[in-house]
Amino acid sequence: MVSRSLRALPEPDPKPGNGHLQDWALAPLPLIEEGARRARAAGGDLFRLRLGLPAVVGFSPAWNRRLLTDLPTFVSAGSFSKIVPYLAGGIILTDAPAHGERRADLNPGFGKRHLERLRARTDAAFPGVPAEPFDALAWADGAVLRLLNAAYFSGEFDAHLLHAFLAPLRRPFPVPALPRPLLFARVGTELRRLADRRLQEGGDDLLAFLAPLPGGLTEARVSLAAAHDTTTHALAYALWHLAEHPEWHTIAGHAPALKETLRLFPPGWMGSRRLRRPVTWQGTELPRGTLALYSPYLSGRDPALWEAPGAFRPERWAARPPAWAYLPFGGGERLCLGMHLAQTLIHDVLAHMPPLRAVRGDPTPQPGLTLGPKGPLVVHSL
Ligand code: HEM
Repeated sequence: MVSRSLRALPEPDPKPGNGHLQDWALAPLPLIEEGARRARAAGGDLFRLRLGLPAVVGFSPAWNRRLLTDLPTFVSAGSFSKIVPYLAGGIILTDAPAHGERRADLNPGFGKRHLERLRARTDAAFPGVPAEPFDALAWADGAVLRLLNAAYFSGEFDAHLLHAFLAPLRRPFPVPALPRPLLFARVGTELRRLADRRLQEGGDDLLAFLAPLPGGLTEARVSLAAAHDTTTHALAYALWHLAEHPEWHTIAGHAPALKETLRLFPPGWMGSRRLRRPVTWQGTELPRGTLALYSPYLSGRDPALWEAPGAFRPERWAARPPAWAYLPFGGGERLCLGMHLAQTLIHDVLAHMPPLRAVRGDPTPQPGLTLGPKGPLVVHSL
């Protein structure tokens, strides 16, 4: 079979002069949805974007599986994470072969057994629920900050500094990508202060686990950045859906409702890698250096994989989803380090929540560094 060049792949209509950059910055969801439609119409599962360097987006289970399991070829170095100082370090930018060993060091601290020991602390940090109508997005933001402070630092990290550190992540680009040397230095000093205490006095919070590891404080900083707005957005959307569909606001209903929420609104809507060597994908030659993207958002809404993909139907989770189609936490060796932490925190919050009713809101997904609701999402506790 003669292989085609990447230029022959389908693409959304480019704009004269800047290709897809403007649409990527201003309205990336319609852009990638159009790309996926054109790829499907051409009988394929990959489309091209012109983002200043050769880029491809795939959405089929086969593409997801290849990108997420062929770690020596699909690398993080040079991916989007590199341009966001919050994420540019530690495990996030570590590639094979070092990545596997590093994950083996980190996984026990973020595993279910260790998290169980943090439960009393995170439960105690649960903020009250206002009696009057409140914005679930703003509430989730504050709640997740408190819960992460409890899980990582037993609540001892300066709350104002933690807020100042994490708030820019929720702002539109380029805010999260700006360098913040002074703020990062203050966070580094606070981490050092608390880590020294853990090293002398022990402890069982996440910092006590990370502090003795080489580079452990960088891992604490980077994972906190990966944790905050992903968990906030997931929790806010879950609260909104439970307020709109109160029949799912039961202990047995929370798991399928959260899965369905993350299928429709995965905070990690797009994952990026670079090709360390050329790849031939279904007859198309992708050169070394290509930006290779996968999209939990597109895969979670692919009409070829899901019945009524746009509908909120938690009952679909009575059956197993198609393999490599449901990736809100990524997959393979780079599966989200904080998956259990996020799920534990969110389920604990949902279990504490009184019955809710949706008052008014705008859940339109806004893709930034992570995908979140436009908001506000005003709900009322009954
Ligand atoms: C609902 C909340 C969360 C969602 C939806 C989410 C989503 C994701 C996704 C999709 C990836 C894979 C990215 C890729 O393949 O490029 C990832 C990786 C990662 N996540 Fe999360 N995440 C969440 C919460 C957290 C939390 C609480 C932490 C705190 C530890 C965390 C830390 C990380 C780290 C360190 C990685 C990189 C892992 C690696 O490369 O080995 N995340 N997350």
